[in-house]
Amino acid sequence: MSTTAFRFPLFALACLLASPAPAAVSFEKDLLPAITKKCLDCHKAPHTENGQKKEPKAGLRLDASWAILKGSENGPVLTPGSPDKSGIYESVTLPKDDDAHMPSKGEDLTPAEIALLKKWIEEGADFGGWVGSVEGMPAGAMTESAKPYKPRPHDLFYTALEKEVKPLPDDTLAKARAAGAQVSPVKVESPLLRIDFLTGVSKCDDAKAAAILPLKDNIVQLDLGRTHITDATLKTIAQLPRLISLDLRQTQVTDAGLESITTLKKLQTLNLYGTQITDTGLQHLAKIKTLKNLYLWQSKATQAGVKQLTTAIPGLKVSIE
Ligand code: HEC
Repeated sequence: MSTTAFRFPLFALACLLASPAPAAVSFEKDLLPAITKKCLDCHKAPHTENGQKKEPKAGLRLDASWAILKGSENGPVLTPGSPDKSGIYESVTLPKDDDAHMPSKGEDLTPAEIALLKKWIEEGADFGGWVGSVEGMPAGAMTESAKPYKPRPHDLFYTALEKEVKPLPDDTLAKARAAGAQVSPVKVESPLLRIDFLTGVSKCDDAKAAAILPLKDNIVQLDLGRTHITDATLKTIAQLPRLISLDLRQTQVTDAGLESITTLKKLQTLNLYGTQITDTGLQHLAKIKTLKNLYLWQSKATQAGVKQLTTAIPGLKVSIE
């Protein structure tokens, strides 16, 4: 007996000293219950309620991991590692009287839930095998990773552009699709197009990307991130008169290539995350006065180059870290 009584405190002390780092946040266990209760009413797969068809608000579904990674009609809402670049976190931390505060109705997340959400994103936003609803899941969706930015195109701006173009014939769209492009209207019934190659980024090269050229007048958003395109495709892109948002993240484009896209007259958002772009490339971009958002994380650009650029284009927001 006396031996046990003596040993117990030592054992307790050993436990304290050896206590492991706090466990990682589990999405399914720690976050999903709150999200289900407080978000899904407005952010789940299209469904019928009292005979009325309900679409997810802002096109954002939070009922599946692939859907959360896909983001809203305005772009991604989650950047693993960066809560402050994740709309899903930002929206719940905004002041209650902010229009973008979430949930827009009903019970708020508790401070503890918000802290867990933050920590989960900081830890890399791992869904730990949770998939959720597979309704409407595009082929290959599970391999897509979150995109590192969130463009917010201006609706009025689009409405003006819509008046300038006609819808394209189906066979023109079909040809681009045959080359691997995902072509979709930017919103319901709009002739303006958004194009990406997300179902086969590794198959998209300069030749495939050239298939978008017949659609050139209608393209406003183009995502070529992680594809195998080179500067040659930037010459194609230079011919898109209404391009507003361009994603070139993690491609082989170079400073020289950027010179060709200085013809773009409407470009507002450009993502060069994870490219070899340097300050020389930024000097070319200084000619695109419409530019509003530029993403340069993990590029070769420097703060000095960014400073020159923002002097040339007042109001430009640059994310570089
Ligand atoms: C009562 C309905 C409702 C609930 C509940 C709700 N939302 Fe929303 N959510 C909306 C609406 C409406 C919008 C579009 C707002 C706008 O365009 O300004 C939106 C937009 C968003 C956006 C911005 C999407 C984008 O990129 O434009 C995020 C992120 C978001 N919600 C997250 C959440 C989260 C997280 C929860 C739960 C904590 C939640 N929402 C609960 C109605 C709701």
